[in-house]
Amino acid sequence: MATPPSETPGHGRAAAAPGAGAVDPLHEPLRLGALALDRRLFMAPMAGITGLAFRRSVRRWGAGLAFTEMISAYGVHYRNRRTLDYLACGPDEHPLGFQLFGADASVLADAAARCVAAGADLVDLNMACPMRKVVKTGAGAALLGDPDGAAAIVAAVVGAVEGRVPVTVKIRSGLREGDEAGRRTAPRLVAAGAAAVCIHPRTASQMYRGRADHAVTFALAAELPVPVIASGDVDGRAAALALLEGGAAAVMLARHAVGHPWLFAEILCNAEPPSHEARLAEVRRFTGEAMEGMGARSVGYLRQFWPRYRRAGVLDKELAHALMLAPDAPAARALLGM
Ligand SMILES: Cc1cc2nc3c(=O)[nH]c(=O)nc-3n(C[C@H](O)[C@H](O)[C@H](O)COP(=O)(O)O)c2cc1C
Repeated sequence: MATPPSETPGHGRAAAAPGAGAVDPLHEPLRLGALALDRRLFMAPMAGITGLAFRRSVRRWGAGLAFTEMISAYGVHYRNRRTLDYLACGPDEHPLGFQLFGADASVLADAAARCVAAGADLVDLNMACPMRKVVKTGAGAALLGDPDGAAAIVAAVVGAVEGRVPVTVKIRSGLREGDEAGRRTAPRLVAAGAAAVCIHPRTASQMYRGRADHAVTFALAAELPVPVIASGDVDGRAAALALLEGGAAAVMLARHAVGHPWLFAEILCNAEPPSHEARLAEVRRFTGEAMEGMGARSVGYLRQFWPRYRRAGVLDKELAHALMLAPDAPAARALLGM
């Protein structure tokens, strides 16, 4: 059974030794520029999900690195109040990556410097987002179609952070089926100073459908002189280990960890799921922290999680349904016995 969350913040999950003397590949240290990481299982950035309470939740179960959701570089640069809220991070949250999106090198450079001042241990540049409202501005996956512009952005951001934190880039395999824009652009990003490349090997036109094609991940890992971090379809220990075996330097969980944060402990410790009591305690703690941090906005935010917690077996159908209908935070608290 996976160890229940410790009271100690940080990533204190103990490694389960795979065999006498052998080091579990997921627990091998990894260095990205100035940043030393003690394990190779991370939480990927997810817009609308990876706020502070969620990042704390996955870290309790062993995430070795977590990311903010993607943050608009323009919003940071022009001091948009709502955007600046995304820069909030806790003292217990390190190591933490801040992910930025944008299309203008000088705006991204300024925003990256502000992320470092706000506590970033790593700055990741989003060249993966396929959403129309992002791509139409030339940001996200659109940058894979503009290798010169993408490389100029990396160079500007690397210059702005002055070696204090590593700059990484998250890419897709390409823009549409059959094109290799990700693989073609990645060497340019590395030449411009990227300390690692995170790849989600679906094409932008695929959005989140179908299977991730990790043959692309392995090809990139063989070609690039920097670590390649794999994202896509990691649902358990076998999938995580297969990616490391194939050449990925680290692995990120995404959708499979939503409503299932203890998946980190299950993978890292090769353990059974935690007890029902431990899972319910985690749901209550996450809920309480989300409510505390987000106020009334937490009601809509948390609605994304109730069906997921139900699927993970911690809430029954009636309770999940009642939580979906809860009009406000006190009602949800009461339903959860908090
Ligand atoms: C709701 C949602 C929001 C996401 N937001 C981001 C984001 O802000 N930045 C990013 O780089 N990737 C984002 N992603 C992509 C994930 O980080 C991840 O690469 C992708 O979901 C593939 O992993 P999976 O198959 O394990 O879910 C998002 C994915 C989803 C489903």
